[in-house]
Amino acid sequence: MVKNRARLDEKAISKYLNSIAQYFLEVMLERRLFVCQEEFYNAETTSASFDFVKRLLFGINVHKQMNEILSTMKTTKPLIVTDKGIVQSGILDKIKIAMEGDGVSATVWDGVVTEPTVESMDAVKEFVREGDFELVIGLGGGSSMDTAKMAALMKYNPGNTMDYFEKKFEKPRLPLILIPTTSGTGAEMTGGIVFSVAKEKRWYSDSKALPDIALVDPVLTVTMPTRVTAHTGLDALGHAVEALMTIYASPLSDAFAYTSIKWVIDYLERAYHQGKDVTARYYMSLAATTAGLVNQNAPATLPHSVGYTLSHRYNLPHGASCAIPLPYCMRYNLSMCVDKFAVIGGYFGITYGSKREIALKTIEAIRRLIADLDVPISLKELGVPREQLRTLAKEFIVKYPRPYNICKIDILKAEKLYRYIWEGTIW
Ligand SMILES: [Fe+2]
Repeated sequence: MVKNRARLDEKAISKYLNSIAQYFLEVMLERRLFVCQEEFYNAETTSASFDFVKRLLFGINVHKQMNEILSTMKTTKPLIVTDKGIVQSGILDKIKIAMEGDGVSATVWDGVVTEPTVESMDAVKEFVREGDFELVIGLGGGSSMDTAKMAALMKYNPGNTMDYFEKKFEKPRLPLILIPTTSGTGAEMTGGIVFSVAKEKRWYSDSKALPDIALVDPVLTVTMPTRVTAHTGLDALGHAVEALMTIYASPLSDAFAYTSIKWVIDYLERAYHQGKDVTARYYMSLAATTAGLVNQNAPATLPHSVGYTLSHRYNLPHGASCAIPLPYCMRYNLSMCVDKFAVIGGYFGITYGSKREIALKTIEAIRRLIADLDVPISLKELGVPREQLRTLAKEFIVKYPRPYNICKIDILKAEKLYRYIWEGTIW
């Protein structure tokens, strides 16, 4: 009897051990299938073609040069495209005062909406065609600057916003100046225009939409609310980190990306906690502008696509929606980016361990930075129902594919990635 029980126990133990072995085998297989299988990226053999704005004016109080700029451009009839928040904040008045003199007569269109829609783009198109404007000035965050780009392009190009997904702008645009009042989107340095059509993100990118002048004055960002500081600053971080993770990355784009990331790490929390700290604002403006330059030439990758699936469903600002998936997408791309992430680790002061260990600790440090700025670090924390992950992953693959992400992704990998983001697991 005792012997039989012993034999039964042995059987149970063996079954138990087998199930554990099976479990680990499955986990290992699953992880092996989940790692990046691409060829190793060789920076030294990569060429680069870079689009720049014609002129970048950066510095404290450079906005006071507006009158001089308009007179150099021989224009007296600018259209300022902005939003009502900028009007109320007093920033619009600062720009108008700086433009005064020499018969300058500015018109203001303050109909910009956060996360512009095709309707708001068509509204500015109607407005710009009705007036005899000689110049468009985009004043505000990315939404205002993108709307201003569209206004400048649509002055002489016929048709509606949607027509230009199928054809190029053939006629010239109005001269264009972009003045950011946030430090994040870097839209002043790009030819990208982002807007939504029935809650679906669309983007248009053309070097024709690059402005004649990007005027970046950190003073204009000092009154930015705390939450906006955090979200836009994380957007800049995303543009720079994502630029390291694309097949379009080059030693040139990497150089700008690293510098931008270092400035964000050194100054974003300072700007978040002490908005009036001009030094912190100065370096965050630099970080956003450099990240914008990088974004124009080595475009955003997986985190921005995940962000697009989240922002309209959960009413999340763009920067926050892209920041939540950032550490997990870094982990997904890790095998191709160990050296690069180890460089970022140095900016956090992470020096101990192998390069891979430093790279992994860097991903954790990025996640901590996001959490310290009071942004959720998992989809569970955001309140996303687990049952919705498959829908999100499908939308991600179908609507926002990023074929230039350094590691390819398919629907199965995307579903797994979303599960990790939901759990908050850096595997
Ligand atoms: Fe962005």
